Amino acid sequence: MKNELFSAIVVSKNADTQEVQSELKRISFDDLSEGDVIVKIAYSSLNYKDVLAFQSNAGVIRRYPMIPGVDFCGVVVETSNQQFKVGDKVLCTGYDVGVSHTGGLAEYARVPAKWLIKLEQDTLLEYVMSLGTAGLTAALSVNEIILAGAKKDSEILVTGITGGVGSIVVAILKKLKMENISVLVRNKEQRDSYSNKFEHIYVRKELETKKAMTHQKFDYVMDCVGGVVLENLLPWISYRGVVTTCGNIAGNYLNISILPFILRGIRLIGIDSVNITLEEKKNMWQQLLTDWNIAGTFSVGKLSLDEVEYAVKNWGKVRNKGRIIISIPDIKKC
Ligand SMILES: NC(=O)c1ccc[n+]([C@@H]2O[C@H](COP(=O)([O-])OP(=O)(O)OC[C@H]3O[C@@H](n4cnc5c(N)ncnc54)[C@H](OP(=O)(O)O)[C@@H]3O)[C@@H](O)[C@H]2O)c1
Repeated sequence: MKNELFSAIVVSKNADTQEVQSELKRISFDDLSEGDVIVKIAYSSLNYKDVLAFQSNAGVIRRYPMIPGVDFCGVVVETSNQQFKVGDKVLCTGYDVGVSHTGGLAEYARVPAKWLIKLEQDTLLEYVMSLGTAGLTAALSVNEIILAGAKKDSEILVTGITGGVGSIVVAILKKLKMENISVLVRNKEQRDSYSNKFEHIYVRKELETKKAMTHQKFDYVMDCVGGVVLENLLPWISYRGVVTTCGNIAGNYLNISILPFILRGIRLIGIDSVNITLEEKKNMWQQLLTDWNIAGTFSVGKLSLDEVEYAVKNWGKVRNKGRIIISIPDIKKC
């Protein structure tokens, strides 16, 4: 195996122009980052962060050349760590993977054992990666509102529902039989395409306000986009309500009033799925594979490695209401 060549997507930065280029190419095991476990990858996925990895100046990749792909699952093919054996099904999300440590958009990955979650042998790898980083992030967000006291009849608003994290948040909330799920979409066309699926579908403009506080509409907001979208939601949060925030796709900064925090006691909870402990990840995955199993209840598209470059260039169109997984069977040439 050591001399074998295999396929991987490699992004590199041109030293003169600083432009980032990507290429599907044959590489060797010497090109992989260090680790004590080698995994034959079955599936990776495309998250917004992976899309950024292909862009110049996005600041996601910390070392070039790099194999992007912040998550993957597959089967152990070589290990010097006693906790794993050849044939184990494993999952990896976050930490340095696909950022400064070669990632999941390849036939093989080599990673430290401390980043890997061992899966039961009967676990469906396709389901695991249909969740991936997005599913873990969504589960962590839902977990926070449950810990905060969310009930079946709580008024809940979700943003970013046409994307990976948001669509899975909705799927988990429905699995939990939450009765009052509202969503926020970009425009009327999106509202029409989701009609009859939610209690209320708000178009972003409808919730824009210059007031520091207005009607108390939502007990919980699960925000996946940040920026001005999140700014506009804080005035609508009910007394002692909770907002989770995991994304910055609509902007990194908030220009907000302190009043909802000190007069209504609202709370804003940040979600990180990348650097939490492996133990915390395992707990959430256990939940996603058992009580919160949402297989088949959210949209998942499947692509191959040679379709990735097109997909990241046409992300909004390709993503189409949910998740994109990358199926990686043995590829002998590219
Ligand atoms: N904290 C963490 O650990 C963590 C983990 C995973 C993801 N994230 C973050 O979570 C966010 C969502 O990730 P994802 O993988 O689900 O992305 P995604 O699949 O690309 O979905 C993005 C969602 O954001 C919406 N959106 C895009 N631009 C927007 C804008 N300017 N204003 C309002 N909404 C906008 C999209 O709506 P349209 O369809 O209308 O474009 C879509 O619903 C990203 O910021 C990502 O970096 C964070």
